[in-house]
Amino acid sequence: MPIKKTTKTTNKKSKVMKNAPAKKKIVKKVVKAKPDDAQKNRIAKTKVISLLRGMKDSLPKEEKYWKTMHRLADSIAEAYGFAWIETPVLEESNLFVRSIGKGTDVVDKEMYVFEDKDGGKICLRPEMTASVARAYVNHGMQSLPQPVKVWYLNSMFRHDRPQAGRYRQFHQFGCESLGVKDPVVDAELIAVAYHFLEDLGLKIIVYINSIGTVEDRQNYIVELVGYLRSKRAYLCDDCKKRINKNPLRVLDCKNPDCKEVIEEAPQIIDWLSNDSRNYFMKVLEYLDDLEIPYELKSTLVRGLDYYTDTVFEFYKEDGEEGAQSALGGGGRFDGLLEQLGAKEPVPACGFSLGLERVINTLKDKDQAEGKEEEKYPIFFAQLGEQARRQTLVILEKLRKEGVMVKHNLAKTALKAQMEIADKYGADFTIILGQKEVQDGTIIIRDMESGVQEIIDQKKLVHNLKKKLGIN
Ligand code: HAM
Repeated sequence: MPIKKTTKTTNKKSKVMKNAPAKKKIVKKVVKAKPDDAQKNRIAKTKVISLLRGMKDSLPKEEKYWKTMHRLADSIAEAYGFAWIETPVLEESNLFVRSIGKGTDVVDKEMYVFEDKDGGKICLRPEMTASVARAYVNHGMQSLPQPVKVWYLNSMFRHDRPQAGRYRQFHQFGCESLGVKDPVVDAELIAVAYHFLEDLGLKIIVYINSIGTVEDRQNYIVELVGYLRSKRAYLCDDCKKRINKNPLRVLDCKNPDCKEVIEEAPQIIDWLSNDSRNYFMKVLEYLDDLEIPYELKSTLVRGLDYYTDTVFEFYKEDGEEGAQSALGGGGRFDGLLEQLGAKEPVPACGFSLGLERVINTLKDKDQAEGKEEEKYPIFFAQLGEQARRQTLVILEKLRKEGVMVKHNLAKTALKAQMEIADKYGADFTIILGQKEVQDGTIIIRDMESGVQEIIDQKKLVHNLKKKLGIN
C-alpha cells in the first residue's frame, strides 16, 4: 500500500470526512538491523566496566592521608616494639568460623567464601586477628620471648550492605600482642591506637568494658536471656532473633526501638569474677596515668565471639555513636589460640582501626577548618630539548639529596609550566633553558615577587635545601 507522506489538515472538515470512519494511523516501522555477534562482542568490549558494589578506589587526592597513615603506623609500631607481619589474603574459611564464631554477622552474612579449584572452602579474610593467631601457632612462636608483638596494615573483605563508612574492601591498621596476660598489655595497645589517632589530629574517646571470662559470661547470659524474653515485644525483629542466637548482640543494637530495653538490661560488669573485676580496674588505672579519656560502656560487647575480659572501641570525641562510626576496636582474646590448636594457653590482646573511616573523619575535619589543598613549594620548568634532557639528570640529583620538586616534562611551553606551578601553589620555580644549559647556570624565580636570580647549577641543591629548611 502506498504510504502518504504528508496530509494537509484544514480546520473546516467536510461532512463526508466527519462521518467517515477514523483512518488507521500508519506508522512507518523502522526495522533496526540486529547486531551480529561481532558487533555484540565489540559493544561488550568497549562498555565501561564499573567498580564492584561496595568497593572503593583510592585516588591520588587521598594520597596525603594514606601516606601519613602508613608512615605513622610504621613509626608508632616500631616505637612501641611491634614487628611487622603479613599473612595471605586467602585463608581456609574454617579459620574464621572457628574463631569469630557462628551466629556472628561476619561469619553468617559477610564472608566472601568460595570453593578453590581443588575443592577446599576458602575465603577472603574479613579481619587479621584470627590470621595472626594461626600464624603464631603455625610458626611455633611460643618459643620466642613473650609477648610476641606484631602489627599490620592491610585490606579486609566483608560482604556487608554498603553505606557511608562501610565498604566491602577496607583497610585496617592493627596491633596484636600474644603470650602475656597483664593489664599493662591492654593499656599499651589502647595507648598505641589512641596516640595514632591523636597524632593525626583527632580528638578521641575510648569506650571500654569488661565482658569477663567465658564462665562469667555464661552466667550473665542466662540472666540476660531471661530479661530479654520478658521484653521481647519491645525489641526490633533482628533482636527478637538474636535472643536465642546471640543475645549479647542485642546490647549493641543501634535501632532506637531497642534503646530503652537495652538501657534497663542487667549489666555484665555485675557478673564479673573478682579476678576479672580487679584486672579491669588495673587497666583503667593505667589509662588514668596515661591521661587517655575513656568512658565505661556497659553495653559494649563487640561483635566477634573470641573476646574475653577487656573490650574497647575508639570514637571521635564529638562524633555520633552509630553503627558506622567506630574508628576502631579491639580487646583480649585469651582463648582463641587454644581454639586454633595451641598446646598451651596463649593469652592475647589487640586492636584494629578502620582506615577509610579515619580518612573520612580527617576529610570532614579539613573541610570544617577550611584547609587548603596541599602545596608544593618548588616547581621545575624546562625549555628546549637539551634542557629537558638535563632536567632528568638534575631531578635525580635532587631526589638523592631529599629535595622533592614538582615538574611536568610533557609540557614544553614555559607559559603552560608556569600555570601548573601556580596551581601547585609553588613558592619558587626553577627554570632551565638552552642558555642556562650552556652556561651551567639555572634560574630561580620567586613566584610571589616575580624576582629571578641566576645561580650556578652546582649551588642548586644547597640553595633549595635552604629554602625548604632542610639541613
Ligand atoms: P572490628 O570491630 O570488626 O574488629 O573492626 C575494626 C574496625 O574496622 C571497625 O571499628 C571499623 O573502623 C573498621 N571496619 C570494620 N568493618 C568495616 C567495613 N565494612 N568498612 C569499613 N571499615 C570497617 C576487628 O576486625 C578485630 N580484628 C579487632 C581486633 C584486633 N581485636 C583484637 N585484635
